[in-house]
Amino acid sequence: MDTLLIIEDEALFGGELKRHYQRAGWHVVLAPTLREAEHLLLRTRITPLVVLSDMNLPDGNGLDLLEKARALGETGEWVFLTGYGEPTDAERAQKLGAFDFLQKPTEFKTLDLVIAGAVRSARAQRRLKDQASAERLRYSPEAFIGSSPAARRVRELVARLQDLPLSSIMIAGETGTGKGLIARILHYSGVRADGPFVEVNCVALPKDLLESELFGHEQGAFTGAKGPHRGLMEQADGGSLFLDEISEMDPALQAKLLTAIESRKLRRLGGEREITVDIQVIAATNRDLVSAVGDGQFRADLYHRLSVFELTLPALRQRKEDIEELVMALVAEFNTKANKRVRHVPPEVMARLQAHDWPGNVRQLRNVIERCILLSNDEELPAEWLQLAPVHETQASQHGVVQEGSDWIHLPLDGSMALDDMDRHIIQTALERHGYNVMATARALGTTRETLRYRIQKYGLMKS
Ligand SMILES: Nc1ncnc2c1ncn2[C@@H]1O[C@H](COP(=O)(O)OP(=O)(O)OP(=O)(O)O)[C@@H](O)[C@H]1O
Ligand SMILES: [Mg+2]
Repeated sequence: MDTLLIIEDEALFGGELKRHYQRAGWHVVLAPTLREAEHLLLRTRITPLVVLSDMNLPDGNGLDLLEKARALGETGEWVFLTGYGEPTDAERAQKLGAFDFLQKPTEFKTLDLVIAGAVRSARAQRRLKDQASAERLRYSPEAFIGSSPAARRVRELVARLQDLPLSSIMIAGETGTGKGLIARILHYSGVRADGPFVEVNCVALPKDLLESELFGHEQGAFTGAKGPHRGLMEQADGGSLFLDEISEMDPALQAKLLTAIESRKLRRLGGEREITVDIQVIAATNRDLVSAVGDGQFRADLYHRLSVFELTLPALRQRKEDIEELVMALVAEFNTKANKRVRHVPPEVMARLQAHDWPGNVRQLRNVIERCILLSNDEELPAEWLQLAPVHETQASQHGVVQEGSDWIHLPLDGSMALDDMDRHIIQTALERHGYNVMATARALGTTRETLRYRIQKYGLMKS
């Protein structure tokens, strides 16, 4: 049952309200003074979905209590009732996020409608908050698994960084080493956890689109810009902006980004107004940015700005002692997801997993374990689905089965797969093998980035 807190000093009216909402199925708590309401809210911690409060009470103003409740993270919606001719301080009420206010006397019909709106809004906010705290649990530093010195160092550094009000962090590391994971951990266990986490992959969009996505645009800024659009940087206000594969960003846009980061201000495309944003930028790269700077492909000034704090994630082959721990965690995860019951990893299977070089790092290990779990029939992790290519093997196996890390792909020519599906399958596989690095994938397929991007969009091949 949802709780409705009514703060009303007129006993008769308070009682009437209480009975009305009890009949409507609420658990109603009535407080005749602000002091009492404060005690209920902040000490006994009742968590009303909606608070219906008189504005001017004998012992103070309802807005003061709302302010205290908000400071403590209370999410319920507040509806105020004001006496005729009393000051309403509408501006402050709005700033504090009051849902609505009504002038007394008001009919129950009107009041019911407003309360119903407040209920919808409060429920939506609770859902968001629950989601945020679930993410916080999911993305604590412990989510980065491993007991090797290298893995510990990563967690220690993250723990230290998360309390600092940093404006930018750079995460470097090969594909699949956990850059995306660490970016989320930095956000959800840091001081900005309640703010938004906005992710942008700098290769997924062509240059012009990336610019208008990041900075937003005003109506008519370019052909096709129908309405005004809040860019991702604005959307990340108060939170973190995760720029994945930053090395692929166009140099002109890099310059614009740097200016925005340094001045904490931006202008929408086609806009005059300067918009202030407060964001933490988390950038990730799997390319060596120092050499990209040397080659003139990445701006030195942006590099220096972003890499004040740089976190380099170790490749899995550099921390092979973590493989067993990772495997066991992944087995548990995929058992749950796929409703399987694998309990043993035979020693020879574990030995093969530990001997492998893992060019695709933890992501590749995840894929292998997922496949084995999906294809398991009993409590043992099946060895036949490991399909780990010997490190230097580049030939498809004799059975014609595609091997991890090989440059080959196997397709049926028996009519069971349509040409378009093959195209899609080839691109998807190549993307996976290259950790969704569009440049590398385009090279492997002997095509251009533009062509590849077009097909990625056409087939909706986004990283899951
Ligand atoms: N130390 C780790 N512990 C647990 N899971 C991990 C760890 N490192 C990576 N993973 C998992 O492996 C997968 C790949 O990691 P992630 O996507 O973060 O890699 P990435 O470095 O961003 O790769 P890319 O450069 O290809 O984008 C994710 O599912 C992530 O949760
Ligand atoms: Mg990533």
